[in-house]
Amino acid sequence: MTTLNPKSKLLLVEDDKSVSQTLRTILSEEGYEVSIAESIAKARELIQREYFHGVLLDLWLPDGNGLDFIKELREQLPLSPIIVITAHGKTEHVVRSIKEGAYDFLEKPFSMERLLLTLKKALEFSFGEEEGEEMVGNSRAVMAVKELIRKVAKSELSVLILGESGVGKELVARQIHRLSGRKRFVDLNCANLSDELFEAELFGYEKGAFTSAHSRKEGKLELAHEGTLFLDEIGDLSPKAQAKLLRVLETKQFSRLGGNQVITSNFRLISASNKDLKAMVEEGSFREDLYHRIAGVVIEVPPLRERKEDIPLLVEFFLKKYHCKKHFTEESLKLLKSHRWKGNVRELKNFVERLCILHEGEEVSKADVERFLGITYQEDLSELFEEKDLRTAKQKFEKLFIQKKLREYNGDVKKVAEVIGIDLSNLYRKIKLYGIEI
Ligand SMILES: Nc1ncnc2c1ncn2[C@@H]1O[C@H](COP(=O)(O)OP(=O)(O)OP(=O)(O)O)[C@@H](O)[C@H]1O
Ligand SMILES: [Mg+2]
Repeated sequence: MTTLNPKSKLLLVEDDKSVSQTLRTILSEEGYEVSIAESIAKARELIQREYFHGVLLDLWLPDGNGLDFIKELREQLPLSPIIVITAHGKTEHVVRSIKEGAYDFLEKPFSMERLLLTLKKALEFSFGEEEGEEMVGNSRAVMAVKELIRKVAKSELSVLILGESGVGKELVARQIHRLSGRKRFVDLNCANLSDELFEAELFGYEKGAFTSAHSRKEGKLELAHEGTLFLDEIGDLSPKAQAKLLRVLETKQFSRLGGNQVITSNFRLISASNKDLKAMVEEGSFREDLYHRIAGVVIEVPPLRERKEDIPLLVEFFLKKYHCKKHFTEESLKLLKSHRWKGNVRELKNFVERLCILHEGEEVSKADVERFLGITYQEDLSELFEEKDLRTAKQKFEKLFIQKKLREYNGDVKKVAEVIGIDLSNLYRKIKLYGIEI
């Protein structure tokens, strides 16, 4: 369980005095500090003066419609969730308030329990207080991703999450699920699945459907009823599997393998891939109709090297996670920021973990970082001097040199050939000769 920040300040925009007083009393007892604005004008005035962690907003206010105020609130308090409360819960109001950026919608009369729960979840999301599932970062890119998550979570839209390996795609999927309020998060990794296995996993099967089907098994689709179905590595599906999936996405109906009962599942689909699905559609390896089905909204999670400003925060976060007290010098942080992080956040996380286990001493210098990133050549170089024979020493150096350059340029052989000034074919020959892995 997470503990609520007892100093969370809330703005309650509500013109009905009896309602606002009651709410204030109860919320204060729960440890919130509540300011009341009985009109939009008053709310505007208050947010100029102080910061609020969250806003409770009535829609029918004396000087206007709360719906028209949401956008302004979002701009003024971009990190603070807005919960709309109203007695006139018309569907179009719900839709519009969520669209404008409200976090949730409560229809009067609501129970206090419901309000407190909603509030707690909203504040946790905004400040990432729930353990283990935080999305750390305050770069523009990450803020934009968080914003999008918040916007789409409650909807039924299918979501496609794209990005390099290790950027946090699964984390995004889980966040969306958590905020959606849906039941279960059911995931299926589509990589390395034969068509038979994919179908068995997705649809489930009846006893005897195939030789190894000793008993009935429910498929992921069924398990995800009223929950979220997360299809990871969706770009790896074969054409046949794509066709099967498309059919069930169109109808939301299917049968278990070897069965004839028609099952309807109300799942919400989230998919992820580190492949360029658009390009795959163009070249014909991914069905266009399927793409449109799964990509109701596309969330692109940028690589870590494009949001370097998050690196110190992430380092701090992982240090805390591993209960590790280390201090990175300015220089060492600078080096971390200039690293390419091909494995993105996962690589950074592993790096910190490795360092916490193996590094003695509290301070982490630039040289330490180099060592733990495996980008130091000093030891290898001193070994070179042990060689008696110049030819062997030269070759060893050549190998190290090429390895280092390849690492530096992310394995881009063409680029490296250009940079070090030899022919591409010559470079390939050397890579092969020395058995260098790219
Ligand atoms: N912004 C972040 N804040 C905190 N932890 C993060 C963040 N982004 C990623 N992580 C952590 O990094 C690891 C990799 O993230 P995740 O598994 O979500 O990546 P992915 O994009 O799904 O990778 P892959 O394509 O290889 O499956 C996880 O342990 C995750 O918790
Ligand atoms: Mg993943």
